[in-house]
Amino acid sequence: MVGIRALKKIWFDGKLVDWADANVHVLTPGLHYGYAIFEGIRSHDTPRGPAIFRLREHMDRFMNSAKIYRMKIPYSQAELEKACVDTVRANEVATVYIRPIAFSGYGEMGLDPTNAPVRVAIGEFEWGAYLGQEGVEKGVRATVSSWLRMDSRSLPPQAKCAANYANSALAKMEAVVGGYAEAILLNSAGMVAEGPGENIFRVKNEIVSTPPASSGILRGITRDTVIKFLAHEGLAFQRTDFTREELFTADELFYSGTAAGITPIREVDGRPIGTGDYPITRRLQRRYEDAIHGRSPAYNAWLTYVA
Ligand SMILES: Cc1ncc(COP(=O)(O)O)c(C=O)c1O
Repeated sequence: MVGIRALKKIWFDGKLVDWADANVHVLTPGLHYGYAIFEGIRSHDTPRGPAIFRLREHMDRFMNSAKIYRMKIPYSQAELEKACVDTVRANEVATVYIRPIAFSGYGEMGLDPTNAPVRVAIGEFEWGAYLGQEGVEKGVRATVSSWLRMDSRSLPPQAKCAANYANSALAKMEAVVGGYAEAILLNSAGMVAEGPGENIFRVKNEIVSTPPASSGILRGITRDTVIKFLAHEGLAFQRTDFTREELFTADELFYSGTAAGITPIREVDGRPIGTGDYPITRRLQRRYEDAIHGRSPAYNAWLTYVA
């Protein structure tokens, strides 16, 4: 968790309001039933001022999450992308985490949200590396969770819905209580799926792999970024299922996510991963840092400049 420092403005239902005024009623059904879809996006400092990384792809996923849940967003994607830019500009903080959310609002209560008003907000807060800067540098200790990633026959993992994060929270809390930084969730077939808020990659004999979308994961934007980097690095890549024991025998493992960035995993359930060096992960981390900070012309199309 991160302590939130108040910034200036939040975009709420079409306009920028003061931070303190972005409130909802306690009988908001989205709060009770987890009927909310959201995104997690970052803006970073670049030589040309703040720039939002892969805004278009994040908002594509936002609209797709809404579609899966039959949620009618009363704004176009273009309006919401502009609203993200306006919010970053209004808050005057270059390095910031952006959280668009749509939820069924106050007015009716019950399990059919069809007639509830859909409210949309874009909040921002400052958030360092989710698994810590030390984690990014030295790697984190992870544990395979006793909780399975929820199955797409119950809750669609490709929709970034608030309800999914109850599953994530159970796994995360179990990991933290056990003294680990993060969890790794298996799916109902017993194969590796993802972390509670990150995708996972494995390196073995210079081949990099990540579980396919059919393993029941969120299709991460950072995952997609890493996959593109692998092609540019000339590294072999496979989308393939792997087992718990293939975690233990990996040369390198890392998490990818907007919040976590690219964070190496140095240990899984007491087994050290590889030699403790992460040469391929390091190459990807450098490429990622250059891309998000506008130091790499090849990835400039992924940046939406705020100024
Ligand atoms: C469950 C889950 N998997 C993976 C990711 C990584 O996705 P992204 O790289 O788009 O942030 C996230 C974060 O949004 C997540 O919540």
